[in-house]
Order: sequence, then structure tokens, then C-alpha cells
Amino acid sequence: MKIGFIGLGIMGSRMAANLQKRGYSLVVFNRTRGKAQPLLDQGATFADSPPKLAEQVDVLFTMLAHPDAVEQAALGTNGFLSHLKSNALWVDCSSVNPSFSKKMAAAAAAGRIRFVDAPVTGSAPVAADGKLIFWVGGDAADVEAIRPLLLCMGNKIVHVGGHGMGTSMKMVVNLLLGTGMAAFAEAMELGQGLGLSQKMLFDSLLSTPTVAPFLASKREKIESGNYEAEFPLRWMQKDMHLASVSAYEAGVALPVANVTKEIYRLAMRGGHESKDFSAIYEFAMGDDGKERGTQP
Ligand SMILES: NC(=O)c1ccc[n+]([C@@H]2O[C@H](COP(=O)([O-])OP(=O)(O)OC[C@H]3O[C@@H](n4cnc5c(N)ncnc54)[C@H](OP(=O)(O)O)[C@@H]3O)[C@@H](O)[C@H]2O)c1
Repeated sequence: MKIGFIGLGIMGSRMAANLQKRGYSLVVFNRTRGKAQPLLDQGATFADSPPKLAEQVDVLFTMLAHPDAVEQAALGTNGFLSHLKSNALWVDCSSVNPSFSKKMAAAAAAGRIRFVDAPVTGSAPVAADGKLIFWVGGDAADVEAIRPLLLCMGNKIVHVGGHGMGTSMKMVVNLLLGTGMAAFAEAMELGQGLGLSQKMLFDSLLSTPTVAPFLASKREKIESGNYEAEFPLRWMQKDMHLASVSAYEAGVALPVANVTKEIYRLAMRGGHESKDFSAIYEFAMGDDGKERGTQP
């Protein structure tokens, strides 16, 4: 079975590498070709364009930044969708909104291509370890067909429901991630404003049930001030936006998430967009730390 992989950023490069390590033969494409080099060194083939890749593969994975990038890769000039073999399977692992996944599923079905949305939870190190969680939406037979492939990249596969249900779950998960990180940053700001040390706060809070478990993995970044991206802040803002769009479509109100989304946008404007999303802490604190403790 020949596998195609489009989108070799932080996540895609690690996921594709795990497929390769299990012996699968890969044809890859990425807008920035240089990022494919480690996979090419291990025997993967680079296709000059998404259509050239599509013609060769039985299963195609995409792991792209946002809905526009996916739509461009699939349906734009030089899009892959009309070049896939009949009955091929397209697995979109990108974090996109459920109505977009349903639109892609319909476009695929029109060309007799099977579609599965399979976004993931877990950041760069988890992807490297092959321990991602996949939230999967699609027909049961298609999910079963790709299960062995997903198990090369992850250790938990949740078949949530039909098309768009994988990305529905992903919206919910990242809403919790984004708001949890921002709320923690604000709580830490209050604590330090009241004279508690960062160390005291970390030592105390991380052992209570009041904070989300993922926050322990952000401690080192916050303490060192090195926010090299595992999950870029701009993609967190994108996910908060897509959650907001999804809530609008579902007639649901998200007051907390919408405010949080704007905090991430302000952080982007403040130059934090390419840092890890935990840099919302640095943004909340004010880069020079002068805002804390200032009397009104
Ligand atoms: N990082 C995480 O912890 C994490 C966890 C779960 C889910 N995700 C999701 O996974 C997806 C990829 O994220 P990532 O962290 O791997 O981000 P990334 O390193 O920024 O990679 C983004 C990928 O999308 C491509 N891309 C972006 N804009 C494009 C465009 N207009 N046309 C064509 N290609 C485009 C990039 O190509 P270039 O290399 O040419 O820029 C790259 O391959 C996103 O949907 C993200 O929300 C990320």
C-alpha cells in the first residue's frame, strides 16, 4: 500500500516519520520542500505537486494548518482531489471545523473518494512518540481500513461518529486547552501580584485538582522563558475561532471562549504568534513585568 502525506510541519513531519518507521512507503509533499528532507533521507519520494502525489497513492493524509490550506491543497489550482484513484481514502488530520470537514467529505464523495476526518490531540513530543489520540469521523469500514495506519502514529483511536464528528470532538478539546491555558496565566498573574512566588504557585497549584494536567508540561517553558513552539499560538487562536464559528452554526453561545480567542489575537499582535501557545503567560504578565503591582 502506498501512502501519501501532505503537510510536513511540526506535527505532519513526526507523524509521517512514524509511518515510515513501520515500513510504509511514503510519497510526500510540502509547500516548503526543505522540511521533507529527513523523510527523503529515509527513502520517501517527493512529489512535485499534490496532483502528482495523488496519482500514486491509495491512502492520502493531510496535516495542514487551517481550512483554507486544506481547501487549497484539495480543490485549488493544482489540487489533489480530482487526481486520486477511484475509491482511494483521504484522511484529513488537520484541526478544522466540522462543517468544513462535511464539505470536504461531500466533495470527496462526488469524485468517488472516501473521506475520514481524523484530527489529533497531543503536541510535538507526543507525535514523535507515536502516542497521539485520534478523534475520527467517517464510515466504520473506512475507519477500520486505516486503523493500522493510525496506530503507527497514535495509541488511542476514538471513532466518534460520521463525517465531521472527529473535528467536532477536536473543537471541544481545544476550547478546553485554550481557555485552560489563558485562565492559568491569569491566575498566576494574580498570585504574583499578591506577592506569591512563581515557584510557590507552581509547586502548589500543580498538585491540586484545580488545574488541567497538561499545564505541568508547560512549566519548563514558563520558568525558562523559552517558548519554542510545540503548538504555535497562532494555531490556538485559529482553533478558538473555529470553535466560535462552529458554535454560531450550532446556535450555541461561547462567551468565555470568545473573550479568550481575542486575548490570543492580542498576543499575536504583540509578536507571540509563532511561539508556543503557552506564551499567553508571557503576554498576560506583560513582557517587561512592569504592569504587575501598579496601583490604579
Ligand atoms: N502542534 C501541535 O501541538 C498540534 C497538535 C494537534 C493538532 N495540531 C494541528 O495540526 C495542524 C498542523 O499544525 P503544526 O503544528 O504541524 O503547524 P505547522 O508546523 O505550522 O505546519 C503547518 C503545515 O501547513 C502548511 N501550510 C500552512 N499554510 C499553508 C498554505 N496556505 N498552503 C499550503 N500549505 C500550508 C505548512 O507548510 P509550510 O511548511 O510550507 O509552512 C505546514 O506543512 C494544524 O491544524 C494544527 O492546529 C497541532
